Amino acid sequence: MAQKLALLGGTPLRKRPFTAWPLFGKPEEKRLLKTLRSGKWGRLHGPEVAEFERRFAKMHGCNHALGVVNGTVSLRIGLMAAGIQADDEVIVPPYTFLSTASAVVESNAIPVFADVELDTFNLDPKAVEAAITPRTRAIIPVHFAGQPADMDAIMAIARKHKLVVIEDAAHAHGAIYKKRPAGSIGHLGSFSFQSSKNLTSGEGGLITTNDRELAEACRSIHSCGRIPGGLWYEHHVMSGNYRLGEFQGAILNCQLSRLEAQTKKRDANGQHLAARLAKFPGLYPQRRIKGCDRHSYHLFMMRVVAEEFGVSRATVLKALQAEGIPCSGGYVVSLPRQPLFGNKAFAPYLPKSAARLDYKHAHLPNSDLLCREQTIWFEQSIFLGPRSDMDDIARAFEKIYENRHALKGRR
Ligand SMILES: Cc1ncc(COP(=O)(O)O)c(C=O)c1O
Repeated sequence: MAQKLALLGGTPLRKRPFTAWPLFGKPEEKRLLKTLRSGKWGRLHGPEVAEFERRFAKMHGCNHALGVVNGTVSLRIGLMAAGIQADDEVIVPPYTFLSTASAVVESNAIPVFADVELDTFNLDPKAVEAAITPRTRAIIPVHFAGQPADMDAIMAIARKHKLVVIEDAAHAHGAIYKKRPAGSIGHLGSFSFQSSKNLTSGEGGLITTNDRELAEACRSIHSCGRIPGGLWYEHHVMSGNYRLGEFQGAILNCQLSRLEAQTKKRDANGQHLAARLAKFPGLYPQRRIKGCDRHSYHLFMMRVVAEEFGVSRATVLKALQAEGIPCSGGYVVSLPRQPLFGNKAFAPYLPKSAARLDYKHAHLPNSDLLCREQTIWFEQSIFLGPRSDMDDIARAFEKIYENRHALKGRR
């Protein structure tokens, strides 16, 4: 006999909250107070951001790391440092946050969307290859949800066509692809420390690279175009002040000390939940690619195929929420279907060249299907709880599956 769903008037499976985010304690308090009392609140004078950059670079297998104000600016600085210019084309996925493409527009360049794979949610290398034109200069693969994109294939395409690769690793702190940490595989990597991210200081971002010249260019761009040995009021490139502050550096140093253990826990819990959910017809957790040595599970992503599971995604979401399981459907449309792209509302960035773009009709069937009716997201902090929390989520799906006939036809 099926248990009655909370959505249909039954008792919710879960009343206790899942792990809240962010996690912090005495170390953060102490370090913030120390920074406060030092009076050195900016990176030009204090030790925190510099120490954080050294530690982050080491953990991510990079020679250089540079803290900046957020993970949008880090992409833009990377594009500028790589010499991307007006009218250049940059290939990006359509299943991503706005910044992956808006940073391209802000660099006066043109985002060209290549579809993602249905089962990994990451850029499809075949679609990347098909999107290349004589104007293509760069690719921005996103390690979506924290699983690395197919970087061997993407780097091979980049080598063949002489393209720059900037990894958008906003979700991928601590993720590892074929023994190489996210952020160390492309020419540049970009991270975000915004509130929801696996490593956070409320706001913040960082650029990684193993290329000294690119590192120097980024450093100059992030601090008003200054150069080492130059005068304070001497500016060499068009730029601004994108420096990360010392309070953020202090928090990030403490949070970084927690990251390794947290990442291991998320990965173990994510794999456990994926294995349990894969047993249901019509539930497809994000496929783990062969080279994924570690998934950072910024999000746990899955697909519901209504025709197989018997219940629509919209109803599954409502039923899960009623059972006390926090979840969402994620992006409602592929990025190029956003009004911004449909209306080409790019001023002051791309007034003339935008005329040739047709984002409304871009052929992106996988991304469109994911947004329209299939994806479910669970946020990263859930995966810092005990294994029994994963079992509760699996049990909620079981309850929904058992009640699928009662839910049939609901939208
Ligand atoms: C994939 C992706 N790239 C870039 C960003 C931008 O980061 P920020 O919010 O720090 O500017 C985000 C933020 O959510 C993101 O999800």
